[in-house]
Amino acid sequence: MRTPLIAGNWKMNTESSSAVALARDIAQRAAEATDVELLVCPPSIYLTLVRDALGKAAVGLGAQNMSCQPKGAFTGEISAAMLTDIGAQYVILGHSERRHVFGETDENVNGKTHAALAAGLTPIVCVGELLEDRETGRTAEVIRSQFDGSLAGVTAEQIESVVLAYEPVWAIGTGKVATPEQAEEVHADLRKQLTERYNGELAEKIRILYGGSVKPDNAAELLGQANVDGALIGGASLKVEDFMGIALAGEAVGQA
Ligand code: PGA
Repeated sequence: MRTPLIAGNWKMNTESSSAVALARDIAQRAAEATDVELLVCPPSIYLTLVRDALGKAAVGLGAQNMSCQPKGAFTGEISAAMLTDIGAQYVILGHSERRHVFGETDENVNGKTHAALAAGLTPIVCVGELLEDRETGRTAEVIRSQFDGSLAGVTAEQIESVVLAYEPVWAIGTGKVATPEQAEEVHADLRKQLTERYNGELAEKIRILYGGSVKPDNAAELLGQANVDGALIGGASLKVEDFMGIALAGEAVGQA
């Protein structure tokens, strides 16, 4: 019922030529995975190049961050309207690197979420605990508070256009993937929170992605969990073989 979303977060990688080459390679192979939705999130400066390289292939375009402000004197920032203007459909918000390297708070993420929704962009709102949170048994508490803060004021009508991503910080770029059981436990709790805040019917419609060291060889097990509806992929999204390998694993478990 929920089409898996396989999203590549290219982070601050690629140059114009390699971004275009990667986009072309993905576009060429996109038709192999028809039961999942593919998305690439290149650096903002290459969004239009990647859009053109994707052409008519069924691959979505997303940004990695944006401002909560609509326009004006905000040097270095990019607005939601600019993203829709160049054809982006998605934006990743509150990625752990934004939260922990650049100090973004739940309040910042919430402001951006509202700005994205107002502009018609689909926000991928990320939450995730630090290793010390997990080791001290605070995972559920941290995730609940990020969920509440990041989604404050989001209405039932709006939540249908939101994608959630659970990314344990200790699993990002470390090669230490969460076990399928660890991922499923948090995903199920996120769905429970959606049910409590909105209702069960809406909660069933919302996609919750897992992110953190997803690779072709661990994707099937993760994506096979009942509440894991896709992947947010960093390192492995930079190689077409790996990205498509994950997409095909998602497709295979969907059909099982
Ligand atoms: P990773 O990154 O796949 O390289 O661990 C995931 C992410 O940051 O979205």
